[in-house]
Amino acid sequence: MAILIDETKRVLVQGMTGREGQARTRLMREYGTNVVAGVTPGKGGQSVLGVPVFNTPHEAVDALGAIDISVLFVPAAGVKDAAIAAIEAGIKLTVLVPDRVPVWDAMEIAAAARANGARFLGPNTLGVLSPGRGVVGMIGGRAESARQWFKPGMPAGVGIISRSGGMASSTGYYLGQAGVRISTIAHIGGDAVLGIRIPEAALMFEADPMTEAIVIFGEIGSTQEEELAALIVSRAITKPVIAYIGGKAAKEGTRFSHAGAIIEGGRGTHAGKVKALREAGATVVDAFGELPSAVAEILRKIKGKSLMSESEKNAVWQTAITQIEPNRVAVRGYDIADLMGKASFGSAVHLILTGSLPSPAIGRLMDGILVASIDHGATPPSALAARTVASTGASLSAAVAAGIMSINRHHGGAIEDCARQLKLIADASVKESISMQGAASKYLASIKEAGERMPGFGHRYHTNDPRTARLFELAREAGVDGVHMQAARAVEACFAAAKKPLPMNVDGAIGAILADIGLNPAVFNGIFMIARTPGLVAHVVEEQSREKPMRRIDPVNHGYDGPAARSA
Ligand SMILES: CC(C)(COP(=O)(O)OP(=O)(O)OC[C@H]1O[C@@H](n2cnc3c(N)ncnc32)[C@H](O)[C@@H]1OP(=O)(O)O)[C@@H](O)C(=O)NCCC(=O)NCCS
Repeated sequence: MAILIDETKRVLVQGMTGREGQARTRLMREYGTNVVAGVTPGKGGQSVLGVPVFNTPHEAVDALGAIDISVLFVPAAGVKDAAIAAIEAGIKLTVLVPDRVPVWDAMEIAAAARANGARFLGPNTLGVLSPGRGVVGMIGGRAESARQWFKPGMPAGVGIISRSGGMASSTGYYLGQAGVRISTIAHIGGDAVLGIRIPEAALMFEADPMTEAIVIFGEIGSTQEEELAALIVSRAITKPVIAYIGGKAAKEGTRFSHAGAIIEGGRGTHAGKVKALREAGATVVDAFGELPSAVAEILRKIKGKSLMSESEKNAVWQTAITQIEPNRVAVRGYDIADLMGKASFGSAVHLILTGSLPSPAIGRLMDGILVASIDHGATPPSALAARTVASTGASLSAAVAAGIMSINRHHGGAIEDCARQLKLIADASVKESISMQGAASKYLASIKEAGERMPGFGHRYHTNDPRTARLFELAREAGVDGVHMQAARAVEACFAAAKKPLPMNVDGAIGAILADIGLNPAVFNGIFMIARTPGLVAHVVEEQSREKPMRRIDPVNHGYDGPAARSA
């Protein structure tokens, strides 16, 4: 886990069409943030980088369903209305990046948030970043640098709360250099009136099972650090707290960079904050440069999992697929020796492609899909290509690769194409409030007019593909029957009503089922390649052991002399 942002959160960008809005949308998406919509009044109907823009947050929520976070790149004068519109649309966290937001406006936003059970970060915040999972706002800049600087808190990390934007990133960077992983970096903003403050953010980290310790970049002014000290004393915060407080040299009445960083009436002094935190049991360093080693030292003492080994620390890039350590291999976190004999191959394919182990029934369905595609005789282009290359004396790898290279848009590709088109039909049925059958019939008419064919239906050999019915049966047993399968049945019914013998083929069935299981269509062709590889190996080995080199291979005319029909 992490706090405030992770890969599951659906994010709205207000001011998305503006200069900063466009640039930050691209960067946030590159880092993995799930940006689902934008809002700019009067620009509804446009899109930025393929993300739809709406006129209001309400419209976005109505069209796309619940949204978790809205981030604002709207000039200060428009922030109050924009933030309140997001809060009233049911968005539970707004991140207010703009600076110079009037204090009265921030107070009105706070009242709206309170009334709607929502929270806000900022104003004047760089936002929040959970390494490897998502960023909202501006922390980290380019995705590539952010990935290098901040090491994900897997299995654990430290939480960073900063009152300074620049130092939020720097603290993350220097902790990474000291070998410390991070769960989330939160810049709470530098204004006098703030949404989430240090105490609330610290309580979120306290409740986050992934966070082992809390690092604070504090500064003079306000009572946030003193409130944190009180939470430590009352044991509401039990995780180690390590802090640096900026502004030691500032005199009373002088503002120290941020509007909120001012000492008034003796409150909010550097000495007062350091004393309160130290007396509560927190570690407070005197110089910022001491912070990383102090954090690492405390993690060593508590045997913290946030501390990286030397090789992890020196890693210049990250992979989230398989972790190799001496005498241990873990696929997506699962010990491979433990998976062996427990997880079927279909389940393991699901695990490596999605990151999660499926239920046994979905695992059986995945196995069914892989078995269904293992081979389809000697005539498909992949088998012919593999056999032709094998007949030249090429190695097994070269011949199998030739077969794989022939798997493309028109061979195996129908799995992905069909799934994407079934989604268009399902979406149209919802959007236009018409039946699935009506949407399918309208879609088929439109592609017919464009002179195109519906992929995944009809077959060169089979009028009733035996694999399709069995796959649908396995899907039913696994409780899978989503909009893609429903759209597929509607298409089949349209063809039947038009007296066209175009039943769904195995590619169409696999596409519909994989999409309803929730796999990303980008991997569908890969699943076909995984499934077909054993068949190609068999063809290559048979070609090289039974046939003469460089023979003329008849693409169709051949017999079968293998075992007679038998049951499994
Ligand atoms: C917020 C900020 C980034 C906007 O700057 P910008 O992108 O250059 O401004 P632009 O004028 O190009 O874009 C603003 C967009 O918001 C839109 N907008 C205005 N009111 C809006 C509203 N209520 N809802 C949604 N969008 C709105 C504008 O129409 C504009 O889009 P358009 O250009 O397509 O018309 C800038 O004002 C700012 O505050 N910068 C400092 C931020 C900062 O450093 N914070 C952290 C400090 S640590």
